[in-house]
Amino acid sequence: MLHQDQVEQARKLLAYLETRTTATADGVYRNEVSDYTCPKQLARERELFFKRGPFTIGLSCLLPKPGDYMTHDYAGVPILLVRQADGSLRAVLNVCRHRGARVAEGSGAARDFSCPYHGWTYGLDGRLLSRPDDRSFAEIDKAGCALRELEVVEKYGLIWLSPTPGARFDMDAVLGGLDRDLATYGLESYHHYETRVLQRRINWKVVIDTFLESYHLSALHQRTVNPILYSNLGTFDAFGRNLRLIFARRTLGELRAKPEADWRLIPYSAVIYVLFPNTVFVMQGDHVETWHVFPAGNGIDESVMYVTLYTPEPALTASAKGHWDRNFDLLMATVEKEDFPLSEGMQRGFYSGAQDEVLFGRNEPALQHFHKSVKGALAEAENEPKKRKMDNEAVRR
Ligand code: FES
Ligand SMILES: [Fe+2]
Repeated sequence: MLHQDQVEQARKLLAYLETRTTATADGVYRNEVSDYTCPKQLARERELFFKRGPFTIGLSCLLPKPGDYMTHDYAGVPILLVRQADGSLRAVLNVCRHRGARVAEGSGAARDFSCPYHGWTYGLDGRLLSRPDDRSFAEIDKAGCALRELEVVEKYGLIWLSPTPGARFDMDAVLGGLDRDLATYGLESYHHYETRVLQRRINWKVVIDTFLESYHLSALHQRTVNPILYSNLGTFDAFGRNLRLIFARRTLGELRAKPEADWRLIPYSAVIYVLFPNTVFVMQGDHVETWHVFPAGNGIDESVMYVTLYTPEPALTASAKGHWDRNFDLLMATVEKEDFPLSEGMQRGFYSGAQDEVLFGRNEPALQHFHKSVKGALAEAENEPKKRKMDNEAVRR
């Protein structure tokens, strides 16, 4: 975050602290319970957010060197990402053009990809290099048998992709003005520490909701997070469909003793972004943590997420590793013992008929923004064919 933005946000937080208030929305928002239980909505979300995308995969350091590759299957589409010799990144469908087998598994470093079924071999760029008994496929041009390419963009040290071949996306629209913050973090030079995968019986949006207010800290996290962060206090800003929340650490007041020119807000806060639709990106002062959430199984009340911790310096010593392990364990203990068991109870309650709506208070503007954005995106996608038809008719007239 730019220094001037840090000062502006710190001023806001200090004022909220004094007046015992927080960033607010205009009114209470009623969110239909069906948002978390409707199979039809889930099908539309899968199609739009996870099939068409784009969404972010993580930081560029997941694939630091030429030849590094990783598979990604969480979106329901078999994706293969490969770092090229020139340092650029390519994404392809992990589907052999002979009969459809997966050409790569897991992650690692490779010189080429040889399909385990009949041995068709592809280069790092996805081109078909060779196929055993080539004569038997003579009338099928090799050049037309490359792995199907996907649009992938690396910007500010983050990777975005769309899992639909031929789909394009406009990064300016995707970022919605978040460049201003993301460009300042130097994420290009961060290092991957560890990724953990969790599966829970909750709708994927409930996982995102978990991060979108600090109202619950004093009740649910009384002993874990509440001693560190102020409860029910934070700034909120929308960046297109993305959003930013800044929660204040209890040390925030120390800033008052310093001249504004020396203010650095990051060590006194937790800066939480939703990179729409399914990534929560947390700038934690001395490290970054990301949550990438996807529908799993039936998708309505099952989700899978991978959580990654990135550090500004590689963790080389035992003491550095111990430090980050403790950090990660504490984070996991909080969500696994406090947030997600509670969320699973909510999800079961959604089916009870107790109510048709849940409430997002004025003090929960980020929840309101996230759910309005989901609905807005789905409505826009729904209207697209109609709009295209109208545009075509207008052209014909
Ligand atoms: S399916 Fe890959 S070589 Fe046959
Ligand atoms: Fe929580």
